[in-house]
Amino acid sequence: MRIPLDRESSTPIYHQIRLFIQDQISSGKLAPEVRLPASRELARNLGVSRLTVTNAYAELEAQGLVYTKQGGGTYVASIPVDYSALIGKYPAANPPAWQNQLLTSSWESASQGLDQMIASATHPDLISFAEGGGDSSLFPLDDFRKALHNVLRQKGRAALSYGDSAGYAPLRNTIAQILTNQGIPAHPDHVLVTTGSQQALGMVVRLLTRPGDSVLIESPTHMGFIVLCHSSDINMIEVPVDEEGMKVDRVEELLCRVNPKLIYTVPNFQNPTGACLSSIRRRKLVALAEKYNLPILEDDFVGDLRYKGIAQPALKALDRNGSVIYVGTFSKMLIPCLRIGFLVAADVVYERLRDIKHNSDVTTSNLMQHALDAYITVGRYQASLRKARFIFNQRRGVMINALSHYMPAGVRWNNALGGLYIWLQLPGKLSADEFYAIAAKTGVIYAPGSFFFPNRDTHSFLRLNFTRNPPCVIEEGIKRLGNALKEFLSKQVN
Ligand SMILES: Cc1ncc(COP(=O)(O)O)c(C=O)c1O
Repeated sequence: MRIPLDRESSTPIYHQIRLFIQDQISSGKLAPEVRLPASRELARNLGVSRLTVTNAYAELEAQGLVYTKQGGGTYVASIPVDYSALIGKYPAANPPAWQNQLLTSSWESASQGLDQMIASATHPDLISFAEGGGDSSLFPLDDFRKALHNVLRQKGRAALSYGDSAGYAPLRNTIAQILTNQGIPAHPDHVLVTTGSQQALGMVVRLLTRPGDSVLIESPTHMGFIVLCHSSDINMIEVPVDEEGMKVDRVEELLCRVNPKLIYTVPNFQNPTGACLSSIRRRKLVALAEKYNLPILEDDFVGDLRYKGIAQPALKALDRNGSVIYVGTFSKMLIPCLRIGFLVAADVVYERLRDIKHNSDVTTSNLMQHALDAYITVGRYQASLRKARFIFNQRRGVMINALSHYMPAGVRWNNALGGLYIWLQLPGKLSADEFYAIAAKTGVIYAPGSFFFPNRDTHSFLRLNFTRNPPCVIEEGIKRLGNALKEFLSKQVN
């Protein structure tokens, strides 16, 4: 325990020790039942007499903040933490000037905004279509528990060390095999394991852009990428999206005009629109990147989850000269809390990204990588993919049928050939942000579309996740949404 002591102060040393520990306890930093250092040890560390520490502990005990156990040792007592003292303290009345810069910063955390909106819905029987991920209840918990257990038993301390910044070699091997199986040729040495694919996106932005630079993005796009750009002071140049993905015919003119440093695209079942970039547009985009000497960041977060139609080639598979940095994740297919994503790049790009990875968090949890590798063979991956596809496609069908049944005229939505979302447009330019509170009151919520546009203008779009609820809940949720909308519309007319 490091206690700052002021030996020049008129406050006695034992009292300073008491005050410090008291503050730690009342602010919750020292939790109940934590053992305080032995008085002899603390006295030695602080360079004071043992009696000084014993006196401090005795006063804390008299206050009821600590107690002594029979066998010896002083422990923090289980008293309710009084956070009110902290509320007065933070934010400080006169924060240091450097914090003012942070207050005037131009970006707000959109993802937190959505989280807060979701958390504010208090209906006792709430149905949520708002979250971004898949259904974690499909995750084979027992198999994974066994894999984790085996790793700890068989690999022991090897799995508990930091591990390689590039990722656990056997897992990189498995990822390379999975990708190659899907027509994305990847050498294990070109695979870099990241802490979720969000980290990979951040690493690429950090490598290839500086504040004030521009990147080309789809509009709307993944909220996490928008927040990333805002927080790095990167300008976003928006390319509209239709049912065939990014409107690539708009790209060349923009490349000539704004000189972006990077093109970011989610070509498969885009978040939030569910659109899939057509084969012709894919080839055009890669050719443009080559012509204008520009990197493409390909975010393939749910590329495997196709329910209809034929698979399109990954941009990485069309890439002849290393223009494309490919990013993938196990978050949607398996479970987000693994926090295991990956990127594929080569040569100097790979080396620089590995440096950035090392400088950000040294390595993705080695234990989790071992456990995932023990669990996920190529065959198992294919099996969980088949299962997820089957279940999600069924739920998708239920949602589309329910929409046809319960939505009033004028509402439009896509059919989502794959992925997790249906993108729906309210009639008459109604604001999905305003409608949110009304829908929440009737017990159903969604992600308002404005979160997926860089300027957060009000929009009549909303995103519905069809993968997280069983069919009967989806049906009921869409029924509530349709009824709430009909009522909302009737009030607008009257
Ligand atoms: C398009 C897209 N890319 C990347 C991510 C990040 O996912 P993770 O960091 O869990 O791999 C998300 C999360 O929702 C996403 O929607």
